[in-house]
Amino acid sequence: MDVDALEAAAAATLPPHVYDYFRATAGGPEVAERSTSAWSAFLHRPHVLQDTERIDTGTTVLGTPVTTPVLVAPMAQQVAADPLGERATAAAAAAAGSLIGISTNTAVPFAEVAAAGAPWWFQLYIFKDRPISEQLVDRAVEHGASAIILTVDITGLRHPSPEANYAVDPTDWPLSPAADRLVNLDPDLRERARGEGGWFARDFGFRAIEWLRERTGLPVVVKGVLRGDDARRAVDAGASAVLVSTHGARAFATSVPSARALAEVADAVGTDVEVYVDSGLRSGIDVATALALGARAVFLGRPVMWGLATGGEAGVRNVLERVHQELVTAMDLLGAPTLADLTQDLVVPA
Ligand code: FNR
Repeated sequence: MDVDALEAAAAATLPPHVYDYFRATAGGPEVAERSTSAWSAFLHRPHVLQDTERIDTGTTVLGTPVTTPVLVAPMAQQVAADPLGERATAAAAAAAGSLIGISTNTAVPFAEVAAAGAPWWFQLYIFKDRPISEQLVDRAVEHGASAIILTVDITGLRHPSPEANYAVDPTDWPLSPAADRLVNLDPDLRERARGEGGWFARDFGFRAIEWLRERTGLPVVVKGVLRGDDARRAVDAGASAVLVSTHGARAFATSVPSARALAEVADAVGTDVEVYVDSGLRSGIDVATALALGARAVFLGRPVMWGLATGGEAGVRNVLERVHQELVTAMDLLGAPTLADLTQDLVVPA
């Protein structure tokens, strides 16, 4: 799949400020380039003479069965790409046998996300005003979220590039103010989210993992981990999974790309918990590389957004199916008929 062509098609249909928000990184174009090209910095050592008559891409993520390890990353503001927003993305995920992460900043009611039929995980930012976060996770549980993704890589100001200024003041986003997007909150809390209380907290530390587990009864995925030692601490603090991520290069312009951090994190936590990865993955070959380096599943961000912007539900489905099909081809050529056969020895630095 030519993701660049899909992005160009999305750019041609989206209002410029919306496209800018979606494609923004924490720096200039070189930051996006570093995120994606890091996946091409690996080559493969294929096996021959394996029985690849049948390729099986099925697995489970925190106990939820999926028929593909290509999952959908939580992304805010999807209604700006298509009026149905996450209703369409979730329906496409359901059709593809995938799973979707739903952003704290979704503008779609959880009941409507759930009605689309895909398994879903709720992504949480912890606000300064704690009752806001509490009500969001309580509602997510009520509506069938099966895990909490705790995002820990965005704590406040990012690289001060003009493109990334949307991050500076959560009450003044270019697309919609807090009151319009936090539809899963009661009106009084939504109003509080427009003020100081809407800023992300920075003081919660690793203890937030246990707090969330206890409050929700759900497994917690820590998103934004880039170091083995932090991954270990997250696991010791009660995390059930870690998601290696640079937030699609949106968090910190000079952080290492996910592709370079993944093996270290996977080695640090071993088989104690599940490891996932996102940021910069653009093809099924990238997915195969990620799984070989130790990820159990991957999340796609912008390719899904470009699919949504250009074709709604069918557009997202097309992206998921094509990346999935590329993965199947890569597994065939690697001599790896199941996901368990995708092992680190299949990958070398280019
Ligand atoms: C994001 N991402 C994100 N992450 C998160 O935890 N909560 C959020 O609300 C959002 N919102 C969001 C909006 C948009 C427009 C983008 C592009 C991304 C980050 C997302 O979950 C994921 O980490 C990256 O998108 C993955 O990188 P790629 O695939 O976009 O390169």
